[in-house]
Amino acid sequence: MALSFKTVSYGLVGLTALVLLLDGKPRVAPQAEIPTRTASEAGPASGAGAAGRGGGAIASSQASFGPRFRNLSVELPSSDRTFPDGPGADLVNSNCLACHSASMVLSQPPLSLAAWTEEVNKMRNAFHAPVEASDVQAIAGYLASVVGSH
Ligand code: HEC
Repeated sequence: MALSFKTVSYGLVGLTALVLLLDGKPRVAPQAEIPTRTASEAGPASGAGAAGRGGGAIASSQASFGPRFRNLSVELPSSDRTFPDGPGADLVNSNCLACHSASMVLSQPPLSLAAWTEEVNKMRNAFHAPVEASDVQAIAGYLASVVGSH
């Protein structure tokens, strides 16, 4: 019997469908099991219980791979991060913290108003700190009253 074109065509289409079915199915199924956070936190003991309910086995075995995220709360000393409150504190916080820490400035020896004015002008002229000329007095006044008193 001679194979007609029609028979061969149907045969090829059928074969392709069969290959796609067999090839596709096993790959799709495990990916549908996304490990849940509860499964990863449950640990091995309750993982066995989850396996009994079905599907839990895959979830708990996958949970041992990849990153595990934890929430940590860290307390940072706030006094080192910004300058203490006072008249002009906002100006100092916004003009000086770009280049060095508050604690670095606060740990300087107490200086006179004139010395602080000179210091702030040095930051502007030598180091090109973007401090408005009109803010220099308020900044120096703040530093003269705060630095050394802490
Ligand atoms: C553009 C960056 C920049 C800014 C903004 C800046 N500084 Fe500085 N500052 C420096 C550099 C650079 C030095 C010298 C090197 C060092 O000690 O880190 C310095 C040093 C200092 C020192 C140490 C003493 C000295 O003269 O070396 C003090 C105090 C100081 N700065 C205060 C301030 C204050 C107050 C402000 C805000 C008005 C300020 N700085 C803003 C760059 C800056």
